[in-house]
Amino acid sequence: MKTVRVSASRDYDVVIDCGILERSGEYIKEFCKNSFAAIITDDKVDSLYSATLERSLETEGIRTVKYVFPNGERSKNAENYIKILEFLASNHITRSDLVIALGGGVVGDITGFAAGSYLRGVDFVQIPTTLLAMVDSSVGGKTAIDLEAGKNLAGMFYQPRLVLCDTDLLDSLDEKVFSDGCAEVIKYAALGSKEMFMHISDTKTGFDREKVIAECVQMKARIVAEDEFDNSTRQLLNFGHTVGHAAELCSGYEVTHGSAVAIGMATVSAACARAGICDKATADSLKKICRAFSLPTELCFPMEEICSAILSDKKIKGSKITAVLCKGVGECFLKSFTLDEFRSFIAL
Ligand SMILES: NC(=O)c1ccc[n+]([C@@H]2O[C@H](COP(=O)([O-])OP(=O)(O)OC[C@H]3O[C@@H](n4cnc5c(N)ncnc54)[C@H](O)[C@@H]3O)[C@@H](O)[C@H]2O)c1
Ligand SMILES: [Zn+2]
Repeated sequence: MKTVRVSASRDYDVVIDCGILERSGEYIKEFCKNSFAAIITDDKVDSLYSATLERSLETEGIRTVKYVFPNGERSKNAENYIKILEFLASNHITRSDLVIALGGGVVGDITGFAAGSYLRGVDFVQIPTTLLAMVDSSVGGKTAIDLEAGKNLAGMFYQPRLVLCDTDLLDSLDEKVFSDGCAEVIKYAALGSKEMFMHISDTKTGFDREKVIAECVQMKARIVAEDEFDNSTRQLLNFGHTVGHAAELCSGYEVTHGSAVAIGMATVSAACARAGICDKATADSLKKICRAFSLPTELCFPMEEICSAILSDKKIKGSKITAVLCKGVGECFLKSFTLDEFRSFIAL
């Protein structure tokens, strides 16, 4: 078992262990003064894991109600968000009760936003069930829903009270969903840990889950403690994401997030090697590790399309892009570009 403390506007623990879902009630009861909790989950996760959670909460004397929605990104929308709020209201959830997000990043993001805005904020606990959610979306307090105009356009910073990561839950993930999460793990290794990079290169998908997840969370916690509201260093977590988001958009979201991030990391590190910022071996090793995790690395859209997609990204301030560049494995830094400069930088 590993525990990582996150220091933000609200401090909390991220507890990582195998089989922790069965004991989740023991951890959650401290945050559930009224012994009443609303579980929010998707249909797939519900059929696999809700019963275990409900049993453990019941053992601790916590009553529950549950809202289940169809799995997938399409549910991260305004209509479902309002339905969750109505569900909380109709079940008389008060500010002394608790909301629990059981699921991947979609469940975590929409539930966090609902918990943060319902009654101007009720406490919530994250139980991430995908690798991506464990290493990334459940930690750091970014919550969101998608709008017609784009992904994650409405949301807030709202930190959970507790995050419980049960590494056993990863066993039931589809290979593709697991690989997507691995792209974020590779991102963390590239950002700040040569040792983790070596470990996952050696072990591939058999990496030490508890250790790797804890290290990723630790890294994210350090960055969030420095820049909770994403004005400076938190942007480092976007390594591979500027190009990645553009590739997702160009594909009409056919290219999944992890795949897009892998393409982004490979594209940017190759550009860094051409510009003499890192050596070719660094760029090659990033490409190689992505491929070892069945992730794509080739930018399969014309540069013009990628650039106009980059322009529509909400993270662009004025006409400047802050990109994450790579000096070597474990050494990344931020650099500001105009769109023209960035286009020439990544153009083959
Ligand atoms: N808030 C943040 O900081 C942040 C960071 C990164 C990504 N995100 C968001 O996260 C979302 C992507 O998250 P995701 O990849 O977890 O997607 P997801 O939540 O859609 O889960 C992917 C699929 O796996 C299924 N699933 C979940 N857990 C499972 C399990 N243990 N066993 C079997 N199937 C399981 C889900 O039902 C779904 O079909 C995106 O909406 C993205 O914008 C948020
Ligand atoms: Zn990401």
